[in-house]
Parts: sequence; C-alpha cells; structure tokens
Amino acid sequence: VLLGGAPGIGKSTLILQVASLFSAKYEKVLYISGEESARQIKIRADRTDSASEEMYILAETDFSKIDQILISQEDYGFIIIDSIQTIYHPEIDSSPGSISQVKGIANRLMKIAKKNEIPVFLIGHMTKSGKIAGPRVLEHLVDTVLRFDGDRNYSYRILRAVKNRFGSTNEIGVFDMDGNGLKEVKNPSQLFLEERPENSSGSIIVPVLEGSRTILVELQALVSSSAYSAPQRLTTGIDNKRVSMLLAVLEKKCGFNFYDSDIHLNITGGLSVEEPGIDLGILVAILSSFQDKPLSSKLAVVGEVGLAGEIRAINQIQKRINELEKLGFTEIIIPKGNKKALDDKDISNLIFVKDIHQVIDILFS
Ligand code: TYD
Ligand code: MG
Repeated sequence: VLLGGAPGIGKSTLILQVASLFSAKYEKVLYISGEESARQIKIRADRTDSASEEMYILAETDFSKIDQILISQEDYGFIIIDSIQTIYHPEIDSSPGSISQVKGIANRLMKIAKKNEIPVFLIGHMTKSGKIAGPRVLEHLVDTVLRFDGDRNYSYRILRAVKNRFGSTNEIGVFDMDGNGLKEVKNPSQLFLEERPENSSGSIIVPVLEGSRTILVELQALVSSSAYSAPQRLTTGIDNKRVSMLLAVLEKKCGFNFYDSDIHLNITGGLSVEEPGIDLGILVAILSSFQDKPLSSKLAVVGEVGLAGEIRAINQIQKRINELEKLGFTEIIIPKGNKKALDDKDISNLIFVKDIHQVIDILFS
C-alpha cells in the first residue's frame, strides 16, 4: 500500500496512530523510518498518545540491513517504510529517491510481503501536482494507492483511495490535525460551513460528493470592476475552464456582461471540487456578487449547467438532500430532471428548475 502526500501533511502521524491502534489490539507492527530517529518517533508517539508496547521502531536508511531483518520476519501484522524516498540500496548505483532505487526497493519489498504474507505500507512524498516525487512506477507496482491531502493553512485532512485492488476507491476519511495528532471528523460539512459570513453576497452552499460521502461546501464569488484590458478570472478549488464556460453561457443566454469585471471564485476551506454538480453554485455565486445581493442562509443549490443554459440532473440527489436537511437547509434548488428519482413526500423543501432563466427569476429578479 502506497500512502502518498505532500511533505508535512501528516503521513507519518497518520501511519503512526494507525500502527499504534492496530498493534495494541491485534499484532506487532514494525515501523522502519529513514526520516526520523527512534527517539523522535517516540516523542511523537507520546505526544499523540500513540505509544504502544507492540510497535517496534527501526531507524535505518540502508536497505541491505533492512532486507536482512525483514527476510526472517513473519510475526508482524504489517510493516511501514517511511519514506520510500529516503531508503537506498547500496548495490544500486544511484541516489536515494531515484527511479532505480525506488523501483528496486519496492520490488524487493513486494517479494518479502508476498512470501511472508505481511502487508507493507510505503510512505511516499508527493509533488504539488499530485505525483509521487520521482517515480510513477511505484503506483503501478503496488496494490493500493492512498493519498493524504489537505491545505496546510487548514487543520483538516482527507484520505482517499486512488487505486485499490482489494476494495472500493469510493471512500474517504476526514481528519482534523491538532497538537495531539489526527482525529476523525464525524461531520465534515459542519467543519466547512463553520465560518460562513452572514448576509454576504457571493456566497452559496453546494452539496458535493467526495467518494461515498456528501460534503457541504461554501462557494464564494467576488465580482469587481476590472482595471485590466483582459479581465481576471481567478479560481481556487474549481476548474478555470468550467468557470469560463459558465460565464459564456450567462453572457450569451441571459445577456449579462462580464467583460469589464474581474471574477474571483473560491471554495472555502481549501477543498477542491471537480464534479459538474457545482456548476449551478458557480453561476449563483457569481450573480449574487455581481448584483451585490445576499442570498438566504437556508439556501443551497446543485446542478450541472449545459451550454444551452439547461440544468441537468445529477447523480446521488437523495444523499445530497439528506445532508442539506440534516444541517438545516430549507430552500434547495435542484434540477427538474431529478424529480422523478425522489419520493413525493420528501419534496417540500425543494425547488425544481430546468434552466438558468428560472433560477434567475427565482433568486435575482
Ligand atoms: P508529519 O506526519 O511529520 O508529516 P509528513 O510525514 O507527511 O511529512 O506531520 C507534519 C506536521 O504536522 C508538522 O508540521 C507538525 C504537524 N503536527 C501537528 O500539528 N500535530 C501533531 O500532533 C503532530 C505529530 C504533527
Ligand atoms: Mg513523515
């Protein structure tokens, strides 16, 4: 299992806590670290309340020594290598972290894992673009790739399965990092909505899917007059091209003009969203800021917007509605095409729309 993530995001902390919980309850765990000394790991374990008698630490970067220890081991529940980029094999003639080192070591570990039937967790530092630094090869070799993500300015972290030969890739875990390590976040939506400003234009809530969970995110737009000949379109957490497309639809189909406006869009909390269900939220946030019209704090919207201005049905509508209702949203705008999938008795809070003209009539006229 490869656990990848940006340096400093919390990979070592996560695996240490997991190892501690697992070893205290089930079997011994061997934690091999090429990054920290045994003492440093112990201090971290004490601080995060994850010191366990059954967790064994080996601080070593020379793989020939690690190999000798591992070859005769069968009684560990799992083994951790933290990180694959810091371990080197003296017989491989290149520097630690190079493709041949990482590939050579991973191949050897795979043999040990299969022969001794011990799962191995490899920690890998990832570059900003989301690639495991240096070697992509690793992602093909392993059975499972997990990615640990988060914005360093915020305390929450998300664990995703990117590849999984033994189970679903449709699950995420949400954690909060504080001075005592990582804690599970039971209600992620609440976390992302906590600091929402009241009565502020340009802000709207959208229920998005993250794996099999629904998370409510706040989308913010700021439309301001531009001092540039080419107005700015700056987005954080949303695809820029999608925003350009939606602006074009608003201009062409509804007669708005944004050619002398700068537009900033942001998903708060540092989350990024790729699914098309966010489209309607983008439009609504932009128009709310453009007209400086705050929207109801009980309002949420979701729907994909097509090039003709039609609003298209999205998947998993019931789950999204459930999450919204759970957090007290009582005005929910959704695609008309989703109506048939819903129970008649559950639709009292819902407003069905088939195109953006209807949305504009309801919210902005
Ligand atoms: P770490 O697990 O070392 O990250 P990685 O292995 O991905 O490089 O975590 C690094 C950061 O996490 C570090 O800057 C300090 C912070 N941290 C906490 O906020 N609370 C904690 O309890 C611990 C152990 C670390
Ligand atoms: Mg680390």
